[in-house]
Amino acid sequence: MNKIETIGILTSGGDAPGMNAAIRAVTRAAIYNGYRVMGIKRGYLGLVVDDIEEFTSKSVSNIIQLGGTILKTARCREFMSVEGRRQAYENMSRRGIDALVVIGGDGTLKGASTFEREYNIPIIGLPATIDNDLGGTDRTIGYDTALNTITEAVDKIRDTATSHERLFLVEVMGHMAGYLALNGAIASGAEAAIIPEKDTELDQLADLINRGFRKSKNSAIVLVAENPETGGAMGLAERIKREFPEYDARVTILGHLQRGGSPTAADRILASRLGAEAITALSNGEHNIMIGIRNGELVHIPLHDTANHKACIEQSDINLVKILSI
Ligand code: F6P
Repeated sequence: MNKIETIGILTSGGDAPGMNAAIRAVTRAAIYNGYRVMGIKRGYLGLVVDDIEEFTSKSVSNIIQLGGTILKTARCREFMSVEGRRQAYENMSRRGIDALVVIGGDGTLKGASTFEREYNIPIIGLPATIDNDLGGTDRTIGYDTALNTITEAVDKIRDTATSHERLFLVEVMGHMAGYLALNGAIASGAEAAIIPEKDTELDQLADLINRGFRKSKNSAIVLVAENPETGGAMGLAERIKREFPEYDARVTILGHLQRGGSPTAADRILASRLGAEAITALSNGEHNIMIGIRNGELVHIPLHDTANHKACIEQSDINLVKILSI
C-alpha cells in the first residue's frame, strides 16, 4: 500500500450522539500527526457524488458538545452497487485520499469491508450507533446518551403512570437488539423489559401479567424494544386489549428523540479515544479494522468480524429487572 498522506472521514447510517466528538478527534489527531484531512459529506454518498471538502483544525471547533453529525449522514443505496463503489473510488483517487475513517453502525462497517476488499484501501471503522449492537466492542458511540435520554423520558412518563394508575408500554429503538430496552428498564426502575433476545413477547407479557403487578402496584412501566415483526409496543397493546382487557395500557414511542441531544461525557470520551486510536492504527500500517473497547481497553477488530454480533444480553440483568420490580 502507498504511503498515507491524506485521510478521508465520513459518518454513515443513523446519526448517533458523539459522532461529532469522533470527527473532531480523528481530524485533530490526523493533523497533529502530519496528515491532510478531507471531510466527506452524507456518508458514502459524498464519495459517490464527490461532495468533499478539506478539513482544518478549525473545521471541528466547537462541535464536541453537539448531537447529530456536522458531516451529515445517509444510508447510501448507490454505494451498494459495484458501479457506485467504482465511482466512489475514482473520486477518492482524484482527490488524493489514501485512507478512510468511517464512523457508523453495522451497515457502514459492512460497506467499508466490501470497499476495502475491492480496492485495497486502508480503512478504519469506528462503532457509532445508539443500538450498541456491533461485534467486538462493549460499547458503541451514542449508546450511553440514548440510554440517558430514555431514562429521563421514562422518569417523566412515570408521573402519569402513577397518577392515573396505568400500564405504560414505552417503545425504544435498538434495531433487533435489546440493550436499550433492558438497561433502560434497569436505569428507570421499570417493571419489565420486552426484548427480542428473550422468548416470545407473549411469554414475556404473560410473565409480567401473571406476576400480578396490580396486586402489589397500581401502575407499571414496560420497556419494549422496537420489533417490526411483532409491531413493537403498538402490537403488544393490541394484544393486551384482546387478552387482558382489564388493563388500561397506553403506548409511548420514543422514536428519534432517542438519537438526538448533546452527547454524555462518557460518549464524548469514548469517541475521543476511538478517534485518536484510528489515526495511530493507520500510522502503524493497520487497516481493515474497527477500533472498539473491551473491558476498558481499546481493541482492534477485523472489520468483517464486527457484523457477527452475538447478543451479549446477560440473563442476570433480565433477572435484575424482575427482582427489583417486586
Ligand atoms: O440504527 C439506529 C436506529 O436508530 C435503529 O435503532 C432504528 O431501528 C433505525 O436506526 C431507524 O432508522 P431511520 O432513522 O432510518 O428510520
